[in-house]
Amino acid sequence: MLKVNLFFQTVWLSTAITGTVRTDRAHPQSIAVIGAGIGGSSSAYFLRQHFGRGVRIDVFESETVGGRLATASINGQDYETGGSTIHPFNLHMKEFAQMLGLQELKLPDDVQAVYDGEEFVFEDSDWFIINIIKLVWRYGFDYLRMKMWVESFLHRFMKVYQFQSGGYSFTTMEKLLYGVGGDEFVRMIKYSIDEALQNVGISQRFLNEIVTPILRLSSGQSANINALVGTLSLLQADSDLWRVEGGNKLVCSGLLYSAKVNLIKGKVTSIHTKRRPQRNGELVHLYEVNYTEGSDPGYSLYDIVILAAPMYPGKSQVHFHDIPQPISFYSGHYQQKVVTLVAGCLNASYFGQHGSGPFRPTTITTTAHSDGSILGASVSVPIKPVPGDQPPTCARVWKVLSPEPLAEGELSRLFPSPEAVHESHWFAHPSYSSSDEIPPFVLHDHLYHLNAMEWAASTMEMMAISAKNAALLAHHRWYQQLEKVDQDILPQGQKVEL
Ligand SMILES: Cc1cc2nc3c(=O)[nH]c(=O)nc-3n(C[C@H](O)[C@H](O)[C@H](O)COP(=O)(O)OP(=O)(O)OC[C@H]3O[C@@H](n4cnc5c(N)ncnc54)[C@H](O)[C@@H]3O)c2cc1C
Ligand SMILES: *[C@@H]1O[C@H](CO)[C@@H](O)[C@H](O)[C@H]1NC(C)=O
Ligand SMILES: *[C@@H]1O[C@H](CO)[C@@H](O)[C@H](O)[C@H]1NC(C)=O
Repeated sequence: MLKVNLFFQTVWLSTAITGTVRTDRAHPQSIAVIGAGIGGSSSAYFLRQHFGRGVRIDVFESETVGGRLATASINGQDYETGGSTIHPFNLHMKEFAQMLGLQELKLPDDVQAVYDGEEFVFEDSDWFIINIIKLVWRYGFDYLRMKMWVESFLHRFMKVYQFQSGGYSFTTMEKLLYGVGGDEFVRMIKYSIDEALQNVGISQRFLNEIVTPILRLSSGQSANINALVGTLSLLQADSDLWRVEGGNKLVCSGLLYSAKVNLIKGKVTSIHTKRRPQRNGELVHLYEVNYTEGSDPGYSLYDIVILAAPMYPGKSQVHFHDIPQPISFYSGHYQQKVVTLVAGCLNASYFGQHGSGPFRPTTITTTAHSDGSILGASVSVPIKPVPGDQPPTCARVWKVLSPEPLAEGELSRLFPSPEAVHESHWFAHPSYSSSDEIPPFVLHDHLYHLNAMEWAASTMEMMAISAKNAALLAHHRWYQQLEKVDQDILPQGQKVEL
């Protein structure tokens, strides 16, 4: 906390010295966005909304538009390999899809089974009511308690959209959480989901057999992750989930197009501050962004820079000059996750199932007691719906999640005769712990870091919320309109249509 506070003081001091308050300030000439994942592309869209047509927006992307939203082709169909499911209450994602004319593809309810290394300790029935009876029989009212916890969080969290549609923005995640949900929300990033659920009376057995397996599948981690990312992960196991027909990454390319940006296929290597005297003698700050396009170096000057890529030691080597190194104090790392798509027949004996009937589960989660080579597996739905019935069991495509690439022997034990295999490697999201500090969104006067949000929780919607927040912050700080920054009380009558 200390470092973050000190850093804020320096930022504050430097604006106090150099920035004369001008409400009639000219609009910025140019803005750089670094990264064209959902964070970068949605911030380009919001920046265009708030700064108007007069500003040039350059978006840098070193690899492919979409970033961690990506698809792969297997057996003639395309499947999501990165971020896949979207919750019905994710309002920014919903708005993007609607605005871009993209279809929401509803996902079929899955049949879940929980594997503990020997057998299924829990298996969904086809009948809702039987499921409830099974859950109550084994776990008492824990399932209901969890549902209530998650839903009450969700309802309160929706207030973030009220703040954002009213134009309010925050300089840190803690201030945002405080505004939205008071001390209780701030505490969510300081204690674990485990503790949070135990506090509402949920049993260890339910935590081990239901909660932890869901968290392992969505975050690759156990119940020691912070309560915010934990609760959002539990939401990913809700019903009514959807994804974008044709692939979630279409949202990114669509937003960039609608924001009329210049897309630069280049890797940003460094950012430093420049001062330039204006005609009236006043000094203005600019950011010089150096990049390589192929092997050609290039550079350009910007009034505002939005960093929309993860920054941590070893990845995204962007060097900062004359800017307090914003990331080096942060020692956390990103978690590797391997997504293996396999077309073929799953070996039910692998999961201790020896019956001769059809294999019913479509999502398999694992407890922390299972040996850990796989985190879970689920039947994957192609990004374009295929007309007709469900494919026969052995013609399905499974998505297997593991912390390391599956060993040859492991894969052939799980799928004795696979028709096709495709492996994707990700640095998926931060390795969470409940003692994490969340880095600030503001790195320098007009330099912002979207992915600081990820240290609280990393989902498409959270990145879109961060993007909207950064665009508002950039706007208000540019025009010195600070009354809507870090304001934690929403004026009466601020309503949002849900
Ligand atoms: C396997 C997996 C499953 C997931 N499941 C879900 C899910 O079901 N639901 C959900 O909501 N979320 C899910 N997520 C999380 C979600 O995908 C991410 O939170 C989100 O996509 C992050 O977007 P971003 O724009 O912040 O980062 P990224 O998508 O990583 O974008 C950053 C971009 O910046 C580029 N870049 C980096 N450095 C530079 C540089 N120096 N110069 C130029 N460009 C640079 C990168 O190439 C990249 O394209 C999942 C993630 C993974 C990996
Ligand atoms: C950025 O590029 C300019 C022009 O090529 C060059 O003069 C400058 O030294 C570069 N800065 C860095 C930090 O590489
Ligand atoms: C299926 O899995 C079981 C249990 O892991 C294993 O013993 C068996 O050899 C596998 N079947 C095939 C055909 O590989």
